[in-house]
Amino acid sequence: MCGIVGYIGKRKAVPILIEGLKRLEYRGYDSAGLAVLEDGKLHTEKVAGKIVSLEKLIKGMDFHARLGIAHTRWATHGIPNDINAHPQIDCTGRIAVVHNGIIENFRGLKGYLEKRGHKFTSDTDTEVICHLIEEYYDGDLMEAVRTAMSQVTGTYGIAVISLASPNEIIAARRGSPLVLGQADGETFLASDISAMLRHTKQVVYLEDNELARITPDGFEISTIENIPVTREIQEISWTVDMIEKGGYPHFMLKEIYEQPLTIRNAMRGRLNFEEGTARLNGLNLQFEELRHINRIIITACGTSWHAGLIGEYLIEEYARIPVEVEYASEFRYRSPIVGDGTIVFAISQSGETADTLAALREAKRKGATVLGICNVVGSTIARETDGGVYIHAGPEIGVASTKAFTSQITVLSLITILLARMRGMSADVGGRLIRALDEIPDLVEEVLKEDEEIKKIAEKYYNADNFLYLGRGLNFPVALEGALKLKEISYIHAEGYPAAEMKHGPIALIDDRMPAVVIAIQDSVYEKVISNIEEIKARKGRVIALATEGDERIKSLVDDVIYIPKSIPFVSPLLISVPLQLLAYHTAVLRGCPIDQPRNLAKSVTVE
Ligand code: AGP
Repeated sequence: MCGIVGYIGKRKAVPILIEGLKRLEYRGYDSAGLAVLEDGKLHTEKVAGKIVSLEKLIKGMDFHARLGIAHTRWATHGIPNDINAHPQIDCTGRIAVVHNGIIENFRGLKGYLEKRGHKFTSDTDTEVICHLIEEYYDGDLMEAVRTAMSQVTGTYGIAVISLASPNEIIAARRGSPLVLGQADGETFLASDISAMLRHTKQVVYLEDNELARITPDGFEISTIENIPVTREIQEISWTVDMIEKGGYPHFMLKEIYEQPLTIRNAMRGRLNFEEGTARLNGLNLQFEELRHINRIIITACGTSWHAGLIGEYLIEEYARIPVEVEYASEFRYRSPIVGDGTIVFAISQSGETADTLAALREAKRKGATVLGICNVVGSTIARETDGGVYIHAGPEIGVASTKAFTSQITVLSLITILLARMRGMSADVGGRLIRALDEIPDLVEEVLKEDEEIKKIAEKYYNADNFLYLGRGLNFPVALEGALKLKEISYIHAEGYPAAEMKHGPIALIDDRMPAVVIAIQDSVYEKVISNIEEIKARKGRVIALATEGDERIKSLVDDVIYIPKSIPFVSPLLISVPLQLLAYHTAVLRGCPIDQPRNLAKSVTVE
């Protein structure tokens, strides 16, 4: 949830640390800090607030240190204030630690350390790590960290520096990502490669229960049990440009506009037009294994969970395999039944979501084959699954997930076609679905041309306090996602419902102050949805309809219409999601909300 940056090398560390922190600000942003070693002293500067507050704090301080660690925090233990900001330091002021994750047994450890005379200054769980290292230090910082971390339960990604070891940074990881980057005479450490991409693309990911001794010339990795680890350096293909805003005012808008490309990337090399099916080699399953799947469980959180629900509708309808979609946070604790022939899909943009990771581990413990649908290559979920499909959406920086969602739906559509073709769907039908998918990037371009119209609609409704989102069938989860986008970034209360469910309760809320966004495309339930619209209008409700291009009738029934290009229902969630993202975006901009970093949220939720 928080962000870590470390640097050791030939250049001044502080500008590199600050720049890296800015790239990680989306991971957490309630306080920030750094620690450097220079002139025989450990200097620690930290402050509540965003990175800009840290920049103000250190303005005019001319640090020349070549080694340092830095952190941007999203509080879990202790309120966001200057004292609880990281780095945390030990009693002697010689050891500094930055930490992502949660130390579950910190109370017990703190009690023990206090009895040994250690003095604590913060409310953080992190501070116990500093005092443990201090307690165990006996001439080798790496060994002290190893002993300290073997005492803790919970999750951590840490970076440690000490005055006693002025030529190294020690890193350790369990459950919270850390990546090392190598360049000529300098080494980088970060919780996310975006923090070092400007300097190097040669990286190595630390695995759980590993430590690294980092020097300007490289790093040495070993397990917590002190077994040396050799790992090859990987070359990362993401460019710095890919993570910049690219001229858009917000990452979210940029990412919405990237969708024709990202959907195309999710399909690239995977459409088999001749045989009317999909190629998904990463699943690592033999034809026979795929044919024998008799049940699918999809587990995920938030937007990824909504994508999973769309997957359920698609797979059940076209491949006729029963699917259950579980919130990962529930799945991990409710002793799920995982029988023979059950495949579990874990969906996660970041690949680091703690609940999803725990759910996949639980499924594996129960003997299931677990497949991942992830964006971040080399992320923990991607590595721990038996196989899977990358969505290839590129870095998603806006906290509100947009392009990852449509790429997840694209991949789930491909999985549906693959499974359906093994279960009797004809090549003809498969071919029609494949061609419909292939047209989607162009159709999304068309939808994006409605941006100005959608903005005008947002101008009419942005003062509302509540919104209702209604859809049916495959587009019910799309309504849920539309509501989530609006509430995340505009702070307007919004609820998604199956359109017909409205009369069982939510209809009581309808009046002229509660707009309803209704997905009313011309599919098999069109007439039923029209009746739902009439019910809302009869109660003076205002309706924004998402309708099929050319549907003139709906104009007279509703207040505003957003038209969606004609296509088959199979691909409709891909088209309808985009205007709902834009509606949420413009509404939030009009309300003056911080689009890319909504309050209380972080991009990657790596705590339970
Ligand atoms: C999406 O807009 C949200 N910020 C959030 O619900 C997110 O989808 C969820 O935390 C899951 O993240 P993941 O896909 O990285 O696992």
